[in-house]
Amino acid sequence: MKILVAYASAHGTTGEISTFMAKALETFGAEVTCAAVESIESVAGYDAFVLGSAIHEGVWLQSMLLFLDKFEAELVQKPVYFFVTCIRIVEADGYDHVMKNYMHTPTLEKLKVRKVNAFGGATQLSNINWDERWALGLRYDGTNLQSRLNADYRDWYTIGAWANSIAKDLDLKPTF
Ligand SMILES: Cc1cc2nc3c(=O)[nH]c(=O)nc-3n(C[C@H](O)[C@H](O)[C@H](O)COP(=O)(O)O)c2cc1C
Repeated sequence: MKILVAYASAHGTTGEISTFMAKALETFGAEVTCAAVESIESVAGYDAFVLGSAIHEGVWLQSMLLFLDKFEAELVQKPVYFFVTCIRIVEADGYDHVMKNYMHTPTLEKLKVRKVNAFGGATQLSNINWDERWALGLRYDGTNLQSRLNADYRDWYTIGAWANSIAKDLDLKPTF
């Protein structure tokens, strides 16, 4: 089975999560390609898609929206799984908030997405320019701005478990 893990990432966090998921899916014998959405010219020949986007100002990155728009007709023919990375999720009620507000249901339904998930991401302020800091500070919609913005909230066990659940959904068997 050939799987494409395609990600929209501004600062690398979502890309690293995608690479981790690709490696997890490979342990089930899948042939996995992991790539940034901007670099993908064709989605032909894949049997399933795992798509992930960072959240900026409450929405998916524009590069993911362009990717979905461009390949919608092909994506919808195959199993699609979708995740976001963000920091709102680590607050109280974060998961529910993210699922309600950061998931664009009409798009997910249009693509017949089989599973959605949201993971804690990471922010490294030294990598974020001043425009982005303003956006993060002004538009970030949490009830409290994270006290530790400069932090890595990724939970690799949760991410790995989701990759395993995708493998199971695709009826892949572990090779380990
Ligand atoms: C400009 C900017 C805006 C952001 N806006 C939000 C937001 O609205 N909600 C949220 O939960 N996280 C927000 N974040 C945090 C990112 O979603 C999170 O750090 C993510 O893991 C970054 O992924 P990346 O490194 O792949 O770009 C924002 C980060 C930046 C830099």
